[in-house]
Amino acid sequence: MTYFLGIDSSTTATKSLLMGADGEVLGVASSEYTYETPRAMWTEQHPDLWWQGTIASVRQVLSQARVNPADVKGVGLTGQMHGLVLLDGDGEVLRPAILWNDQRTAAECDEIRERLGKEQLIQITGNDALTGFTAPKILWVKNNEPQIFAQVKHILLPKDYVRFKLTGEYAMDKAGGAGTLLFDVRARDWSRTVVDALGIDPAWLPPTFEGTAVTGRVTPQAAEATGLKIGTPVMGGGGDQSAAAVGTGAVVEGIVSLSLGTSGVVFASADRPIIEPEGRLHAFCHAVPGKWHLMGVMLSAAGSLRWYRDTIAPDADFDTLVEPTASIQPGSDGLLFLPYLTGERTPHPDPLARGAFVGLTVRHTRPHLTRAVLEGVAFGLRDGFELMKGAGLAGITQVRITGGGAKSSIWQQILADVFQVELATVNTTEGAAYGAALLAATGTGIFPNVTSACAAVIQLTGRTTPGPASATYQKMYPLYRELYPVLRPSFNAVARVAT
Ligand code: XUL
Repeated sequence: MTYFLGIDSSTTATKSLLMGADGEVLGVASSEYTYETPRAMWTEQHPDLWWQGTIASVRQVLSQARVNPADVKGVGLTGQMHGLVLLDGDGEVLRPAILWNDQRTAAECDEIRERLGKEQLIQITGNDALTGFTAPKILWVKNNEPQIFAQVKHILLPKDYVRFKLTGEYAMDKAGGAGTLLFDVRARDWSRTVVDALGIDPAWLPPTFEGTAVTGRVTPQAAEATGLKIGTPVMGGGGDQSAAAVGTGAVVEGIVSLSLGTSGVVFASADRPIIEPEGRLHAFCHAVPGKWHLMGVMLSAAGSLRWYRDTIAPDADFDTLVEPTASIQPGSDGLLFLPYLTGERTPHPDPLARGAFVGLTVRHTRPHLTRAVLEGVAFGLRDGFELMKGAGLAGITQVRITGGGAKSSIWQQILADVFQVELATVNTTEGAAYGAALLAATGTGIFPNVTSACAAVIQLTGRTTPGPASATYQKMYPLYRELYPVLRPSFNAVARVAT
């Protein structure tokens, strides 16, 4: 028997997934943890949580599936992106990791734009400086904790700390590397220009690897801790978004993945490095060797519906809430919802953006409001989709939808109508850990490449095509787009009053 393991160290849990050579999921185990918020807008986590979570979940999945560790032929890693892990010369953790959703680095983002010039920064890295990315976090430590900064010898991402504990190697995948803002995204490696401009010692940065490449092998100590066999190869893997895209087959141009969880992610694979000139989309290396991707992130997607349910209809389950919207006219009789409940990332990188219902009248009922929420999230996601097309991504034929929001057929129809493209669901629902296992499997050579691995194991389970409501949404979408620029000054003003 031949098995592969995908390990996903997310913000809330480390999950281990065991996959057979035919792509079947044979077991999943998860070990949960929390993160600290030492100050408002700060988020931190001790790297040992990921390692202990790895030990617990790998042991559990191996024993549950009664697998001989010698039959596990490869391990693929994935996890939360952008988090900063600082190690000293002995590989000891210098301070808690600063996570992807930490917002402390606004001043450092300005500093980066000043040092490189925004245009050059976007041209090299593919991205504007965002507070969540790794590079501004490094500068924050330099500016605020010089005693820690003086001891830094290695910089890693969360998943790569797990890699270091498993293999003893300092190494990083290229998808993760691109998310640091220190990459030359076209060259798929560290940018000397950016690294030098930010005063970072290149020796601290590990070598980077494609998603299917072997980055190291399980050490005797790691084998003892996890139950894996000494020498098991550990592949590059990828950041959670690119690994999840592998898991749904968004690995070729034309197929876009849409993950509708708390946040909403629109992700498109590209055969060449496409950059949105103003940096309004993330342009990273894909976990698929030699490919890139564009990505738009909406912060409150299904999170908007959850907030709405919890606040307006706490006793209703989602089905009871959403069902009556089927009899509401598309466009909710002139009611629009802006989903910026936790600020926004794409296309408006604005922590002070706010949510809104616009166009309320006495004729509007609860189902109108519910439908407006579903539609507003769809419009906001279309913004990311439009930026992709504007940046040069042509021929999008299908959007593959995953995540909690994908379960609602009403929401699926709204999304197909708003995007004006076929929406599909797939049989693989385990997300990034599954993609990481597929990358590991491809790395051992059982599939010739990632595209054929996906074709062999991923099947469509449903399709939704645009219907008659599409015409109404094409009229409503421009109205939606007009609202944020108009309301921005008010959002800023009310945000100031509230703090
Ligand atoms: C990607 C991103 C998140 C984190 C946390 O850019 O910020 O997906 O990786 O999961």
